[in-house]
Amino acid sequence: MKKIRINLDRRSNLSYEIFIESNIFDRIGLLIAKKNVAKRYVVISDSNVSSLYGEQFLEILRGVNLPADLIEFPAGETSKNIDTVLTIVGKLIEIGVDRSSALIALGGGVTGDIVGFIASIYMRSIPYIQVPTSLLAQVDSSIGGKTGIDLPEGKNLLGAFFQPKMVFTDLQFLATLPDEEFNNGLAEIIKYGIIDDVDLLHLLETEGEAIRNRDVAVLEEIIGRACRIKGGIVEIDEKDEGIRRILNFGHTLGHAMEAASGYTLSHGNAVSVGMIAAAKISEKTKHLSSGERDRIEKIIKNIGLLHKIPGSIKTDDIISRMKTDKKKEGNIIHFVFLKKLGVPFINGSVEKDIIYQTIEELR
Ligand SMILES: NC(=O)c1ccc[n+]([C@@H]2O[C@H](COP(=O)([O-])OP(=O)(O)OC[C@H]3O[C@@H](n4cnc5c(N)ncnc54)[C@H](O)[C@@H]3O)[C@@H](O)[C@H]2O)c1
Repeated sequence: MKKIRINLDRRSNLSYEIFIESNIFDRIGLLIAKKNVAKRYVVISDSNVSSLYGEQFLEILRGVNLPADLIEFPAGETSKNIDTVLTIVGKLIEIGVDRSSALIALGGGVTGDIVGFIASIYMRSIPYIQVPTSLLAQVDSSIGGKTGIDLPEGKNLLGAFFQPKMVFTDLQFLATLPDEEFNNGLAEIIKYGIIDDVDLLHLLETEGEAIRNRDVAVLEEIIGRACRIKGGIVEIDEKDEGIRRILNFGHTLGHAMEAASGYTLSHGNAVSVGMIAAAKISEKTKHLSSGERDRIEKIIKNIGLLHKIPGSIKTDDIISRMKTDKKKEGNIIHFVFLKKLGVPFINGSVEKDIIYQTIEELR
């Protein structure tokens, strides 16, 4: 089993471990019992994941004498809102959950974000554990303590930084994950390779087929590397005030394209084209070599992710969506570009013409 420690503020005991392996499902109960996080546990899961794994997970907790209940909510981003929070909180109160209890997020990023947010505010905060079941949640959202929900005005506008007590990443969950969801996680893994780990990029180039076939040994290696990179960045900049922004590589254009498509474009595909665009702009502004830009494009293409912008998404629309990016400060959009592979930097002053031209070239 791979064990990755995220070292945060020692005085407030915020550090925690990520356990990664295939088939740790059976041992999760024992590890939770040993850590003695709480007297009682409530597993919260979306309808898809709950029907696949909910009861089995409850059995595992109860099998090691941990009192546990299960709460389910409808799957999908549309559930990531205040109504779902209030419904779940109502159920927690009804079954008598108090401050000696802990929540367990069993599911993808939506579940993790909602459960972490509830844990951060329920009775002025109770502990929670992440059991990520989508590839995106395993390599990204379960690590780092960003929790939150969407508002009608925009995504993730209400939330808190609140770290989990433990993270259990069981590769076995990926066997039932739909392809499009798998691709969303793959795009983030490629991002980690580009910004921080050229060896990971090499693995993506040489093991493409094994990855697509969800080979457990290769996935354990690449997921472990991704978690180490995200964890390392979170250790330096827990609250997203500086270096954590490099995790946005490909996301400024990616999010704008996702929004301009009316969210018909998947997150993974949007970020993939966004990463190619960021690499192109890095080349145009004389930072990145054409060889390295070409390598990024080939990796994305060969692994089966989108490398062209669909004609239905208008350039002007993408640019105007970028201007409303919630991560911008004042009028400055913090783009992440590359000096070379593994060396990203943040730049707030790119000429509109270069962005326009790059988008057009990606048709
Ligand atoms: N907190 C963070 O740092 C952070 C980082 C990135 C993304 N996010 C958030 O994460 C969310 C996206 O996460 P996601 O892509 O996991 O979405 P998701 O939680 O909606 O999961 C995607 C779909 O896959 C299903 N699913 C999950 N695991 C499965 C499994 N093992 N087998 C079968 N089906 C499974 C879910 O039911 C859902 O239908 C967004 O809301 C985004 O804002 C948060």
